[in-house]
Amino acid sequence: MPEKESIQSMFSAIANSYDRANEILSLGLYKKWYKELLKLAAPNDNDSIIDLATGTGNLAILFKKHNNKLKVTGVDFSQNMLTIAKEKCQKENLDINWTLGDATHLDFPNKTFNIATISFGIRNVSSIEDCLKEMARIVKTDGKILILEFGTPIGFIKHFYKFYSNFIIPIIGGIITGNKKAYSYLNQSSLEFPYGEKFIEIIKTTKLFKNFHFKPLFNGIAYLYYAEVL
Ligand SMILES: C[S@@+](CC[C@H](N)C(=O)[O-])C[C@H]1O[C@@H](n2cnc3c(N)ncnc32)[C@H](O)[C@@H]1O
Repeated sequence: MPEKESIQSMFSAIANSYDRANEILSLGLYKKWYKELLKLAAPNDNDSIIDLATGTGNLAILFKKHNNKLKVTGVDFSQNMLTIAKEKCQKENLDINWTLGDATHLDFPNKTFNIATISFGIRNVSSIEDCLKEMARIVKTDGKILILEFGTPIGFIKHFYKFYSNFIIPIIGGIITGNKKAYSYLNQSSLEFPYGEKFIEIIKTTKLFKNFHFKPLFNGIAYLYYAEVL
C-alpha cells in the first residue's frame, strides 16, 4: 500500500479529468451501481448521510438529488477533488457539506449519521479496519453502512475484463488524465482488493456490525456491501 501522501497527491493530480475518465472507462456502469446503492440505502426524509472518499461527489450529489430533505456530507482528503465536487454542487444549487478529512480518522462526533457510504474508495485507504471502525463510530445504532468496490468477475467476462483492466484502463486513463501511473495503480488496487465473502469476513471481524450481506454487480466486476451498526 503506497503512503497516504502519495495517494493524496495522485488523486489531486487527476481530479480535473477524473469524471471524464470514469464516464468513459466504466462505460457508464458506475451510475447504475450508484442507483443500486441508493435503493438499498433507502434513506428517510431528514436522514443524515455521509459519503466518505467522495471524490468529485457523484454519489453524495445523487443522494441529495434523490431527496432534497436529506442532510448530505461528502468527505475526501484531496482538496482538488472537493473543489470539483463543490463546483458541480453550486451549478445545480444543491446544499451539501463538503469536508476535507481522512476516512480513517474522522472529525465528527459519535453517532452523528444515519447512513455512511464509500464508493470505490475503501481499497485506497491506509487501513480498511480503521475506516470501518470510523464508520461504526459516526453512524447511529441500527444505522446503515454501504460500500461499493471493485471485485474480480467470474464467468464469460472474466478474460475480457482482465485484458480490459490490465491494458485498456491504464492506456485510456493515462491519455485522458495524463497520468498512466495513477490508472495502473487504481487497476492494481482493484485486483488486490479482498472482495465478496473475504470482505464480509473483515466486516465481521470488527464485531461492530450486524445484518451484513453483499451483492455482486455485473458478474462481480463490482460488489455492493451492506451492514448495520450494532
Ligand atoms: C477512486 S476515487 C472514488 C471517488 C468517488 N467515491 C467515486 O465513486 O467516484 C477514490 C477517492 O478516495 C479518496 N481517498 C482515498 N483515501 C482516502 C482517505 N483515507 N480519506 C479520504 N479520502 C480518501 C481519494 O482522494 C479519491 O478522491
